[in-house]
Amino acid sequence: MDAARVPVRDVLPHIVVVGVGYVGLPAAVMWAKAGLSVTGVDIDPSIVEGINNGRHHVTGGELDRMLSDPAVRDHLVGSATPVAGDAFIVAVPTPVDYLTKRPDLGAVEAAVRSICPVLTRGNLVVIESTIPPLTTSGLVKELIERETGLKVPEDILLAHCPERILPGAIEHEIVHNDRLIGGIDDASTQAATDLYATFVKGALIPTSATAAETAKIMENASRDVGIALANECALICEKVGVDASEVIALANRHPRVNILSPGIGVGGHCIPVDPWFLVDVAPAETRLLRAARVVNDEMPKRAATRVRTALNGKRGARVVALGAAYKRECDDVREAPARDVVRLLQATGITVEQYDPLVPGMGYASLAEVAKGADLVIILVHHARIDDDIAAAGGDLPPVLDLDPR
Ligand SMILES: NC(=O)c1ccc[n+]([C@@H]2O[C@H](COP(=O)([O-])OP(=O)(O)OC[C@H]3O[C@@H](n4cnc5c(N)ncnc54)[C@H](O)[C@@H]3O)[C@@H](O)[C@H]2O)c1
Repeated sequence: MDAARVPVRDVLPHIVVVGVGYVGLPAAVMWAKAGLSVTGVDIDPSIVEGINNGRHHVTGGELDRMLSDPAVRDHLVGSATPVAGDAFIVAVPTPVDYLTKRPDLGAVEAAVRSICPVLTRGNLVVIESTIPPLTTSGLVKELIERETGLKVPEDILLAHCPERILPGAIEHEIVHNDRLIGGIDDASTQAATDLYATFVKGALIPTSATAAETAKIMENASRDVGIALANECALICEKVGVDASEVIALANRHPRVNILSPGIGVGGHCIPVDPWFLVDVAPAETRLLRAARVVNDEMPKRAATRVRTALNGKRGARVVALGAAYKRECDDVREAPARDVVRLLQATGITVEQYDPLVPGMGYASLAEVAKGADLVIILVHHARIDDDIAAAGGDLPPVLDLDPR
């Protein structure tokens, strides 16, 4: 058998994970736990240091626990630069430009470029970052060939294996979710399948790189459109004077209807970003995706209007806002619409104090205490814990406006 075709499980390879954040770190941990030798590479020195000290920089609890496993400590090291290895996993951010909404693949390019000096024949490169369709077979393949003089896939195997983990349930989902394995050819798909089979218990589904890229983004676009429909339903209900929660519950009694919950918008680094990747590659075919983005992006403004209406124009009003994470039961505040609602209110002279019992540094000792004397309590992100705290505060709270009804 050709050296490049040896199943990775037979050679216990060295895995180099480039970008060890929310996505790269859990994967690095899982391979380390499986007994493979793993190097986690990051341009952020504090992350490299954290890995070498067994301490996590992102979520505290969940990944700290994973990192502190002795098997992980023995097999995972942090490094500021890529080292030679057998398989290279790229898990760096893929944002969109703030103004143009065009994909910014600068980090992917930089990460792929950084591994090129250490790539050798027979290596496998996997892009885990969410990327626009045709990026693996286009930009990534061309970059590797140009920088190394090697051919893809004849010399370097290449695949896109997108990630689907849910922050808050990473340890379970990274193992049990089904995973798309989109090789640039069959040998790449096989090598990547062998690599993920070392820890994934869900199905490893072979496909092409472009189908994997497109499917991953369609998953998030589907969530975005579904949420936009729920938000539009809430706006219609407001206009016609009926309760949106009741209308959605009634509609969902239909056996084939499942309208999601409306809220204050869509946050995080994935759902509000990824649909733009499809708009970029197929502008004429993505009218619905663009409309959904517009609807969801307007929700913080509409939520702020509801708060102002509830305050009835009171001058010098003081509001206590509950929830800062980008979604329920999670501590991640990246691109959170709750932050936008708070900013919009503050911009109109309203004093807003924001708390989130799940976000480190944003908790309160007693909700009743922090809400004392406020004109209004608003729920921006309805974590279950907030219900408990409201119940514990009893009748001691000012009026509560729930903008994210459960
Ligand atoms: N967070 C999620 O839940 C999630 C889920 C599925 C897919 N994704 C996708 O995974 C990718 C990574 O997202 P994330 O949430 O892990 O991002 P993150 O910001 O948590 O981590 C990315 C890491 O990459 C590092 N980095 C940036 N450029 C680098 C370079 N050139 N070399 C080495 N390291 C570099 C950053 O310092 C950072 O630590 C994105 O494409 C994202 O859309 C994220």
